[in-house]
Amino acid sequence: MATDNPVTPHVVRSLNETAKLASSLLPQLIQAGIVSLEGPLGAGKTHFVKAVANALGISTEVTSPTFTLLQSYGSGMQQLYHSDWYRLESPEEALALGLEEYYGEGLMIIEWGDKFPELLPPGTLRIRIEPQPHESRRISWRRKDFPSLP
Ligand SMILES: Nc1ncnc2c1ncn2[C@@H]1O[C@H](COP(=O)(O)OP(=O)(O)OP(=O)(O)O)[C@@H](O)[C@H]1O
Ligand SMILES: [Mg+2]
Repeated sequence: MATDNPVTPHVVRSLNETAKLASSLLPQLIQAGIVSLEGPLGAGKTHFVKAVANALGISTEVTSPTFTLLQSYGSGMQQLYHSDWYRLESPEEALALGLEEYYGEGLMIIEWGDKFPELLPPGTLRIRIEPQPHESRRISWRRKDFPSLP
């Protein structure tokens, strides 16, 4: 049976280091296609998305899609979709967003994807941001339901 890949941990010490890590992970994000950003309120998920948008060359300012639930930035190879499940109360509400329609059309980043992990497709890159003292963050990631390479 397929299992999740082992967790890769990383510690960053500032906003800037979070942004640099996000930018250096870009090839892995693009390869996965779907990314779930997880961690408590104020962990830095939206900050991470802003850094990804920046790395993609998107000049529009990324905001928190709390009220629209799905926002789209950029176009073509730089297409970014940003969703936030924080306010959703059921998997049905998440399904009603119709995100699958956009899977594969660009990079999809879902904040609070761990609210309904069963809806995350196999291969989703699950990134967890855990606040540490001051501006430090422990950031770890793993692919969902992906067999480890030998
Ligand atoms: N190393 C860091 N990385 C990211 N954010 C940091 C860091 N250090 C401090 N911060 C601060 O933490 C806050 C993160 O806010 P952000 O909106 O990105 O969080 P979030 O995880 O998206 O929260 P929410 O769950 O409400 O959507 C910002 O105020 C930011 O300045
Ligand atoms: Mg946020």
